[in-house]
Amino acid sequence: MNSLDELKKLRQEIDAIDKEIIYFFEKRMNTVLQVLEYKRKNGLPIFHKSREQEVLKKILGYLQNKDFEQEAVDLYEGIMRSSRRRQSRTLFPYNIVLIGFMGTGKSTISRHLSNLLEMEFVDTDGLIEEKAELSIPMIFEKYGEVRFRELEKEIIQELSQKKNIIISCGGGVVLNPDNVTALKSNGKIVLLSASPNTIYHRVKDSIERPLLKDKMTIEYIEGMLAQREKIYLAAAHRIIDTNNKTVEEISNEIISSLLK
Ligand code: S3P
Repeated sequence: MNSLDELKKLRQEIDAIDKEIIYFFEKRMNTVLQVLEYKRKNGLPIFHKSREQEVLKKILGYLQNKDFEQEAVDLYEGIMRSSRRRQSRTLFPYNIVLIGFMGTGKSTISRHLSNLLEMEFVDTDGLIEEKAELSIPMIFEKYGEVRFRELEKEIIQELSQKKNIIISCGGGVVLNPDNVTALKSNGKIVLLSASPNTIYHRVKDSIERPLLKDKMTIEYIEGMLAQREKIYLAAAHRIIDTNNKTVEEISNEIISSLLK
């Protein structure tokens, strides 16, 4: 056999193997969706990082040539990421929108949820900064709050066209009813709440919040929160209290409350 024939034969072999891999991949995905259905029906927790560790341990035990260990881990991490993404798409066929006062944990929780659910995450303030090529405090200083709110509205309109993403909103996004309407059009709005005391302790050292500049006191936060409270509540599909809870606890509460 000449070397070209040999290459052709090896490629045919790979093709046959790929066919089997895809057959089993599909079979695995379908089984994952059956597990999802079972968990949903029986009210069981859905996303478990510890279960992924178990799977990895098991597959490494099946591996015969330990030289491929890293590649097997890479392959399975990819498979499990795809499973999570597929499950999230099935469970949440809409955007998950986090709103709430400054310091209620929107960005931190969004990042965690994004990782857990394998859903893309965006932060409205981050996008505004990119668009303006300036930091939030600088936008306020140079152009004022009115211009900031205009940019915010443009970003919300753009994001509302997207699907299956997690949106972490700046604390004032819902002050504009147009933003609420746009976000509600294909998203579920989750309000993160916290007491003025908790908020104060989370933001007191921040230099990124122009609205609290030179007014960083519990009393001021309390007043501002009182002014906005009704608007936050009216915009929310779900309300999650974040006081004295870990990021994991808050994220799990969001997931189960959205599934109710
Ligand atoms: C604002 C909250 C900030 C940022 C801007 C205005 C507000 O976002 O959008 O400083 O009006 O509450 P965070 O809630 O992420 O701090």
